[in-house]
Amino acid sequence: MQPTRRRAGAWEWRCRNIRGIYVGALDQVVLSRAVFDTVSGSLGNDAGTAAGAGKPAISVIGLGYVGAVSMACLSHIGFRMVGVDVAHEKVRCIKEGRSPIVEARLEELLSDGVAKGRIDATQNLIAAVLETDVTFMSVGTPTSPDGGCDFTYVRQASRGIGQALAMKDGYHVVVLRCSVPPGTTLDVVVPEVEKASGKKLGQDFGVCFNPEFLREGVAVADFFAPPKTVVGTSDPRAAAVVSNIYKAVDENVIFTSIAAAEMVKYADNVWHATKVAFGNEIGRLCKRLDIDSHDVMNIFVKDLKLNLSPYYLKPGFAFGGSCLPKEVRAVSHIAHALGVRVPLVDSLTVSNHAHIDQAVALLAPFAGKRIGFLGLTFKPATDDLRESPTLELMSALLAKGETLRAYDPNLHLGPMLQGQIDYVKHACPAQAKLMDNLQAITVADAAALVEGSDVVVVSHATDEFRNAVMTRSPHIHVLDLARLFKDLPEDATYQGIAW
Ligand SMILES: NC(=O)c1ccc[n+]([C@@H]2O[C@H](COP(=O)([O-])OP(=O)(O)OC[C@H]3O[C@@H](n4cnc5c(N)ncnc54)[C@H](O)[C@@H]3O)[C@@H](O)[C@H]2O)c1
Repeated sequence: MQPTRRRAGAWEWRCRNIRGIYVGALDQVVLSRAVFDTVSGSLGNDAGTAAGAGKPAISVIGLGYVGAVSMACLSHIGFRMVGVDVAHEKVRCIKEGRSPIVEARLEELLSDGVAKGRIDATQNLIAAVLETDVTFMSVGTPTSPDGGCDFTYVRQASRGIGQALAMKDGYHVVVLRCSVPPGTTLDVVVPEVEKASGKKLGQDFGVCFNPEFLREGVAVADFFAPPKTVVGTSDPRAAAVVSNIYKAVDENVIFTSIAAAEMVKYADNVWHATKVAFGNEIGRLCKRLDIDSHDVMNIFVKDLKLNLSPYYLKPGFAFGGSCLPKEVRAVSHIAHALGVRVPLVDSLTVSNHAHIDQAVALLAPFAGKRIGFLGLTFKPATDDLRESPTLELMSALLAKGETLRAYDPNLHLGPMLQGQIDYVKHACPAQAKLMDNLQAITVADAAALVEGSDVVVVSHATDEFRNAVMTRSPHIHVLDLARLFKDLPEDATYQGIAW
């Protein structure tokens, strides 16, 4: 190695070989002093002086929207950053403190980072990883021809990280920032890194999945005031490294499993897309009805109790009752009559039936057994049977010839119940057989229902039903439609409909 010239905050070295392994010459393999020190077994002093002492040096693979913003913002809070991209022009931009994309404040922070000697960039991935303690991966994950996720860039970058780790002695943390299907970090990234490095997850390196929630256009502002910071981790050591990186912008990092963190990103974006599509469908319908859609939605968003709130968002059983199914049908009907397309609204009933079908499928292994139902009304604390999805599930099972029994503390045998039964028979002829048998299959208490069943289906998360399930005989199975327990029982006889 021959030192060539000195630049602000970093020694640069022209290099063809690290420990005898050729590392390529994508941009003439310019390495900093820190690389040299790392290769020699310690982290460079430059990392400590150019950036805050004790802060890990961070490499960022992929200098697009996510990577460039990470470079700029993390350098701003004192980290020494080394960016990597296969695109020469992007590397040049970052090295010169210019923004490769249009993004408010990005160029200001990049040029400041370069001036302070905290930012460098290279096309040499291996060199960058060797120079740093943590590697953020933010390469593209486009849609593959079959509609899935194209892992080409993720695999290439992972292999490069692995090749670098093969030459590195210390512990390294790999942080995947790309939006990827659940399982990608552990099933794609880790095997590639382990194969190329010969090293072991947990022992030689840690992985985290840290989804990016920035919005283009206000990405820098979002970085410093994130809606949330989520980290899925392989082990506490990796978690500690990443939470230390983020503590200046978010002290309340949410730690979870890697797969949950991967899924959160998809759930977020599907939800955002759902909101946009929903608002637009309401807008199209309002336009046709000569109503100002912004008047409607400005009122809609004022409801922080039911509309913009966690309410209705936790997985459970299908929607039902006297309002939701009826009103969804009504809006579809109005729109169709006016020639307005509302495919999202139309899909809600289809989706709801798919959820009931899921319950039918989960009960298929219990064909011929005694199936007991705890809770018949469409939700707890009401005696309203109208459009209860539990009745639809029971009717489907009855049509298959299954033996059913039921208990609901709010339904009392007698003339009042008969009135409800007559109403349901009138409104929903498909449930007539169940309604004719309802009084006969209803038992007087939860314990009797549970002990007389081979499988119990629970549709209300009440203390009474929770206790009945917890004290049941061990051979009795449970299908939970209502999420009775926050922490799921480790019990082979228990399963939830969507957890
Ligand atoms: N753009 C956003 O607003 C946003 C927000 C959140 C999450 N994401 C996700 O983050 C990831 C990156 O998104 P983006 O918009 O920044 O992508 P991008 O396409 O703008 O940038 C990706 C960069 O990675 C580089 N690259 C590809 N393979 C490489 C390799 N092997 N080595 C080095 N560089 C390589 C490309 O040249 C490109 O510059 C994607 O998974 C995306 O879904 C994007």
